[in-house]
Amino acid sequence: CSETSGAVKVPRNFRLLEELEEGQKGVGDGTVSWGLEDDEDMTLTRWTGMIIGPPRTNYENRIYSLKVECGPKYPEAPPTVRFVTKINMNGINNSNGMVDARSIPVLAKWQNSYSIKVVLQELRRLMMSKENMKLPQPPEGQTYSN
Ligand SMILES: *[C@@H]1O[C@H](CO)[C@@H](O)[C@H](O)[C@H]1NC(C)=O
Repeated sequence: CSETSGAVKVPRNFRLLEELEEGQKGVGDGTVSWGLEDDEDMTLTRWTGMIIGPPRTNYENRIYSLKVECGPKYPEAPPTVRFVTKINMNGINNSNGMVDARSIPVLAKWQNSYSIKVVLQELRRLMMSKENMKLPQPPEGQTYSN
C-alpha cells in the first residue's frame, strides 16, 4: 500500500495493545480510565471508558461510563465514542449519548498519535469549559437505554 501524506502509519493492533497496557497500569490521578469491554476480544474493537467529573462543576464526583469503538481503520480514523451515563453537555446527543465528532476538537481534527486516553481527557476538559460547567444535569446514575 502507498502513503499519500508521508505520515507514518501506525499498526492498529500494536497501538491498541499499548493502549491496553497503559490502561491496565492506570494513568495519573485516575480521573480517566479505560479497558477492553471483553478481555477475550482479540479484535481490540470494543472498549469501555470512565471519567470522574471534575470538581467545581455540575459533573463533580459523578462517574461517567462510556463506550469506545476502535474500528479497523483506527488509529488513522478516530474511534466512535458514546456516553452510557446520562449527561447534559454540548456536543453530546442527549437522546443516546453519542459524542458528535464534529463538536469535539480532538475528534474533529483527529491525528493518529491520539488515543483513547486523549479523547477521555479532552471530554473531561470540556466538562470544565465555561459553556458546559454549569449546565443542569440529569439525576445521578441514569443511563441511556440503547
Ligand atoms: C441524536 O441521535 C438521534 C438518533 O441517532 C438522531 O435522530 C438525532 O438527530 C440526533 N440529534 C442530534 C442533535 O444530533
